[in-house]
Amino acid sequence: MLHRLSAAEWKSIKPALLIGLALALLQIGSGVAAYYQSKNLLWESKYQTAQNLSTGLVVAVADQMVVKDYASVESRIVQTMSNVEVASVMLTDMSGRVLSALKRDPGQKPRLLFDPYWIPTPDSHEEVIQSRDDAYITTWAKVNLGSDLGWVKLQTYNQLDSADLTSLRQQTFWLSVLSVVSGIVILGVFLWRAYFTVVKREHMFEAKLDEATKRLVQSEKLASLGELAAGVAHEINNPVGYVSSNLTSLQKYLAAYEKVLDAPEANTDEMLAVKKKHNYAFIREDLQNLVKETQEGVGRVKAIIQDLKDYARTNVASHYVASDLHIGLKSTLNIARNQLKNRADVRLSLGNLPLVECTPSQIDQVFLNLIVNAAQAMPEGKMGLIDIRTDCNEREVWIEVQDNGPGIAPEILKKIFDPFFTTKDPGTGTGLGLSVSQNIIQQHGGKLEVSSAVGVGTTFTITLPIKRPVKHPVAKGSA
Ligand SMILES: Nc1ncnc2c1ncn2[C@@H]1O[C@H](COP(=O)(O)OP(=O)(O)O)[C@@H](O)[C@H]1O
Ligand SMILES: [Mg+2]
Repeated sequence: MLHRLSAAEWKSIKPALLIGLALALLQIGSGVAAYYQSKNLLWESKYQTAQNLSTGLVVAVADQMVVKDYASVESRIVQTMSNVEVASVMLTDMSGRVLSALKRDPGQKPRLLFDPYWIPTPDSHEEVIQSRDDAYITTWAKVNLGSDLGWVKLQTYNQLDSADLTSLRQQTFWLSVLSVVSGIVILGVFLWRAYFTVVKREHMFEAKLDEATKRLVQSEKLASLGELAAGVAHEINNPVGYVSSNLTSLQKYLAAYEKVLDAPEANTDEMLAVKKKHNYAFIREDLQNLVKETQEGVGRVKAIIQDLKDYARTNVASHYVASDLHIGLKSTLNIARNQLKNRADVRLSLGNLPLVECTPSQIDQVFLNLIVNAAQAMPEGKMGLIDIRTDCNEREVWIEVQDNGPGIAPEILKKIFDPFFTTKDPGTGTGLGLSVSQNIIQQHGGKLEVSSAVGVGTTFTITLPIKRPVKHPVAKGSA
């Protein structure tokens, strides 16, 4: 899912990664610290135990020392040594002379040391003194009953129980693992979010910018075309208007002319000869056609002008009203009835559409363009079918116009929205219908899409937002 990160993405993710690494190190560090702290606690409890044993012994032997009952002293010492932590116990008088001494080798029973001897005793006013070397914790406790009688020297093994240590190590290890893993998981979520918000937002922004630029360019193009169209339409409209009405007059004049020529008194031999010489019969026949054809041609020019005008008009700020698209669709079908006759049946599958904020006359124009295109696409002599479907979700409505005509080849499909692109005979098509339609739909903040398969048919889909879009790159006004 993650693609290779670009330099910019790395840059945005790096701080989070560094924080993650620092956090993991911190967790491991605190795990290690916890381990040593627990170990110290174990040591402390060892000191405490040694101290308790010594002071207990002091209390137990003080009376016997006064009466010099060393047998009892010894039995108390043996009792103390029943604790396997104790390595040796010595009892001395204040000068350091050993009164009684027991020692044990690890794992053995304690044994008496018989040789009387002196050992150095601490020179201190403290009641208890503790020290430690590699092998033992040594505790000196003063025996005092009114006056100082001597010292108890008690040595305990200076080693932590390996079972205790192992379980301690295990505990701290697992705690560290747990906290590092949970840290990584939390950080992962954090990173993932960071990735999405920072990197994806950048992508989205770029994509949007791209699209906006494209639309801007497109609407610029359309706007200038619209201006051009409006200018051309205006220039041509007037002359075409009077040429067309003049032709109508001319047709009437011709009729009058013929009547006069056909009058019986004109039917002299001389007149017949003149008629024959000038091919009158043919000219008479042909003139009517000529005028009719000219009128037709001018009519087509007029249609083009109308299209151009519509085209220009789509760029003008339009009036939005909440409209029932189905009403517009049905009235458009009425208008198109003549075009549909003998070419295609129409099947409606209408959804439950809400009112849509739009300029209904423009949307109707789009419907008309699509329906007429579908009808015109049907091959001669075959009755086609046009399926019109509407549907919606909470934000958009869509209208599909599907035909079972010949379809559009891929290389043509690319061009059908271009202004003036047409595959129809000059006069039948202006090539403006789809480009006008697309412009209208885009002005509405929607889209007009096509899919087509050669030999199967073509589907145009209009998607429109239900609410009028607030902001939209508006084309330059014209006309
Ligand atoms: N339903 C359709 N089936 C097949 N081809 C179509 C269909 N609609 C449009 N076209 C193609 O797209 C071209 C452009 O359409 P349009 O812009 O309406 O211009 P015009 O209809 O004047 O040619 C048409 O000439 C035709 O080749
Ligand atoms: Mg058309």
